[in-house]
Amino acid sequence: MIAPSATLSISAKAQAMQRQGIEVISFSAGEPDFDTPSFIKEEAKRAIDAGFTKYTPTPGIAELREAICEKLKRENGLSYSPQEVIVSCGAKHALYNAIMTLCNPGDEVLLPVPFWVTYLEQIRLAGGEAVFVPCEKDTFAPDIDALERAITPKTKLLILNNPSNPTGVVLQEETLAQIARIVEAKDLYVISDEIYEHLVYEVPFPRSIATFPGMKERTVIINGVSKTFSMTGWRIGYAAGPKEIIEGMTRLQDHMTSNPTSIAQKAALSALRSPASVIQEMVTVFNARRKLILAHLADIPDVSFPIPQGAFYVFADFSKYCQGRFEGEPIGNSVRLAELLLEKAHIALVPGSAFGMEGYLRFSYATSEKAIELGMERLKNFLKHVE
Ligand SMILES: Cc1ncc(COP(=O)(O)O)c(C=O)c1O
Repeated sequence: MIAPSATLSISAKAQAMQRQGIEVISFSAGEPDFDTPSFIKEEAKRAIDAGFTKYTPTPGIAELREAICEKLKRENGLSYSPQEVIVSCGAKHALYNAIMTLCNPGDEVLLPVPFWVTYLEQIRLAGGEAVFVPCEKDTFAPDIDALERAITPKTKLLILNNPSNPTGVVLQEETLAQIARIVEAKDLYVISDEIYEHLVYEVPFPRSIATFPGMKERTVIINGVSKTFSMTGWRIGYAAGPKEIIEGMTRLQDHMTSNPTSIAQKAALSALRSPASVIQEMVTVFNARRKLILAHLADIPDVSFPIPQGAFYVFADFSKYCQGRFEGEPIGNSVRLAELLLEKAHIALVPGSAFGMEGYLRFSYATSEKAIELGMERLKNFLKHVE
């Protein structure tokens, strides 16, 4: 059975409490809390008024695919032609098309743990088998020896997410180079989810694994406008990769959704052609919130976490508290701890088990500084009652 998205279900529960008049502080959001920039909204309005409201080519309008190629050249140093690019209904859809195209039933897919919840379910939807690869405890980088050991004749591909949801970790170039060497030597594919690439703090812009020798022909890059331009509701994501894989993905999309929304494509086009300052403002705000939440977390006894340098998440080890008791009852695991935090402290968090790692909690700081202050106070007060 396909599991429901744990992140979406926690948000739904928190919203239901809010509708009952309970003021819940949410650290569970997977989206920026900023409005979509107004010049993007204006472009969409112009598209509607101009009657740009009909089917487009399945893989997206030519101008948008060209703008994506320009972006990949400008920011990632990678040359693609529009035939090597497909626009889909969000990065999630691009990812689904890629997994369905690359993974046959029985194929093994390497999945570093912790992983974003959707990867596992999409592998299952494709009939593939997820093979979990542990990460180094202190850095959350994939354990390179374990990665190599996990490869069998059935291994088809590796899913990499850099910067990572849920850990916020940005992989070092040396780690990427080691992974690339293994993938190349073992003749595997990589799906590289780079959706958070612009949300990095005090580290250089992350390098795509597709830029390493021999990797472009075996990598499908997944990206989109959802996080970078605060456009989660517009549902525009894209993939870039070898032509025959993109063609396979396009055939699938042809019979599933056809093109992504024409109007949203025009909006995404203006986003991708906008000046870098549009993103920079949001990154500055996120960085201030990151520092604030990290300072609070560092204040809590028996909690540890690697410093996140990307995305808008902190993945912290709360196993000491999971092993504790609340009002005389054992807590037991991260799901119960997250439930208690929602019910008793009115703060919403996602339990680590949703990402394949027990004992952890994921904090999203895509919320105001005021909410972070208040939420962290509630967390600390609650934890004082855990014995
Ligand atoms: C790692 C990762 N990839 C992809 C997505 C999905 O992006 P989109 O909203 O464009 O489908 C998310 C959203 O949470 C994500 O965290």
